[in-house]
Amino acid sequence: MSIQRFRRLRRDGRIRSMMQETRLHPKDFIYPIFVIEGENIKNPVSSMPGVYQYSVDCLKEILDQVKEAAIGGVMLFGIPKEKDPQGSQAYAEDGITQRAVRFIKENYPEIYVVVDICLCEYTSHGHCGMVCGDEILNDETLPYLVKMSVSLAAAGADMVAPSDMMDGRVAAIRAGLDEAGFEQIPIMAYSAKFASAYYGPFRDAAHSAPGFGDRKSYQMDFANGQEALREIAADIEEGADIVMVKPALSYLDVLKEAALRYAMPLAVYNVSGEYAMVKAATANGWIDERRIVMENLTAMKRAGAKIIITYHALDAVEWLG
Ligand code: PBG
Ligand code: ZN
Repeated sequence: MSIQRFRRLRRDGRIRSMMQETRLHPKDFIYPIFVIEGENIKNPVSSMPGVYQYSVDCLKEILDQVKEAAIGGVMLFGIPKEKDPQGSQAYAEDGITQRAVRFIKENYPEIYVVVDICLCEYTSHGHCGMVCGDEILNDETLPYLVKMSVSLAAAGADMVAPSDMMDGRVAAIRAGLDEAGFEQIPIMAYSAKFASAYYGPFRDAAHSAPGFGDRKSYQMDFANGQEALREIAADIEEGADIVMVKPALSYLDVLKEAALRYAMPLAVYNVSGEYAMVKAATANGWIDERRIVMENLTAMKRAGAKIIITYHALDAVEWLG
């Protein structure tokens, strides 16, 4: 019996590049941006080298880079000055995120703007929903998520992405958007979002750490793969246009399984902790950042991601050349 000679198709760069099954493209990426209230602010996030909080008047610098890179879009996270138990600034007409959306739509109409829909950056207790005692309420939270979605769609957002993990929020938001005349605004649901230590640096960046307890009563147990598929199925049923798995690298099995099972566009969120680990190892000279990042992002796409939300987006585009 003759052996198989796989190496014939690996002999040199020309044939290797012809044989490549997965190729990254700038349009695969969505770049997260943190927008903070105030003026003249560009604060470095210490656990995320290269990532900053920008006040609206300082957004130009980063938006110029986004425009130049011609990536798929941006995802906005607002950091309000005032927080209260109901997260009022999340759906205030002149809230920080609403103002950021309007600024981008006025000055960068070509940039596709996704907004994260969640209350944790806006609530005084730092939870993603309404709180009673130490309970995080589900159904009582839904109207607030709807108000936030409608308010940001009215400000000009192109897509809403609920990340709160309350049950039934996709159906509620879809109905609310439709009723307000935004039936053309898609929903990208954070469907399989795990309670993860990988969100640590984000909570510094977005000032959104819970004031008590943790998020395990609403985000998923990282031990559960079947439940993740049920969450995804439910969000599809409720009307999600795109479903997401988050974080990325430790959950590529879930992503792959979803890709095989559902004929739906899939997104993956390459989260803050994943980014921080790469940056820390790079700073120590232990890894080659460029090669590690390209390997990670390619793996996400190979596993089935149509959209990759990543803090590496602008670097990756530069490396793609
Ligand atoms: C808000 C939200 C979080 C992230 C995205 N949206 C944090 C959390 O759930 O605590 C995490 C993103 C990241 O770590 O980069 N609910
Ligand atoms: Zn939240």
